[in-house]
Amino acid sequence: MNLDNAIQKRQSIRKFSSKKPDWRDIIECIDTARYAPMAGNIFTLKFIVVENKEKIQKLADAAQQPFIAKAQYVVVVCTDSSRTVNAYEERGEKFCRQQAGAAIENFLLKIEEKGLATCWIGYFVDRMIKEALSIPENLEVEAFFPIGYEQGKTQKKRKILLDNILYFHKYGNKRMKPLKTLDV
Ligand SMILES: Cc1cc2nc3c(=O)[nH]c(=O)nc-3n(C[C@H](O)[C@H](O)[C@H](O)COP(=O)(O)O)c2cc1C
Repeated sequence: MNLDNAIQKRQSIRKFSSKKPDWRDIIECIDTARYAPMAGNIFTLKFIVVENKEKIQKLADAAQQPFIAKAQYVVVVCTDSSRTVNAYEERGEKFCRQQAGAAIENFLLKIEEKGLATCWIGYFVDRMIKEALSIPENLEVEAFFPIGYEQGKTQKKRKILLDNILYFHKYGNKRMKPLKTLDV
């Protein structure tokens, strides 16, 4: 699959079939996260692959999003920001959020290439996730990802137009080239 295809075909899937993915495919998806840029080349992320049905149910409860319980696996993404904060002080926390997003996008594109389905889950009670998976107190739970195969067909979301987000030379300017002055 080429890059444009993976980027444009990726979408959030919230209905999973009962078919179980090969866990090795999920490991390959997680492996792509290692290639994301990290401030000071300090890798801050940890990944937990969850297969146990009861634990997956606890994660669904922590997010109050029942569809998660239908996933065959869940991947939880955590950050240990200690080394980055040591190196960059208060800027370090911001770097950790940014690089988690970069690593997660790698992961999502590989999920797409593998023909798997997932949805970014960012809304949950952190404490409940930490308790369910014995995650140390000093780690941040960035997000988690229920994984399976898509059931049915999900309608694609309309995406914002480039024109609405792009400026040239300074904020608010929509023209790449200056308007030619009229000779009068
Ligand atoms: C930071 C973040 C948090 C999100 N949290 C949730 C969530 O808790 N539950 C959910 O169903 N979708 C969640 N999403 C998925 C978005 O709703 C989805 O990406 C958006 O509607 C665009 O759809 P698409 O992914 O199909 O392009 C989250 C996405 C991001 C980036």
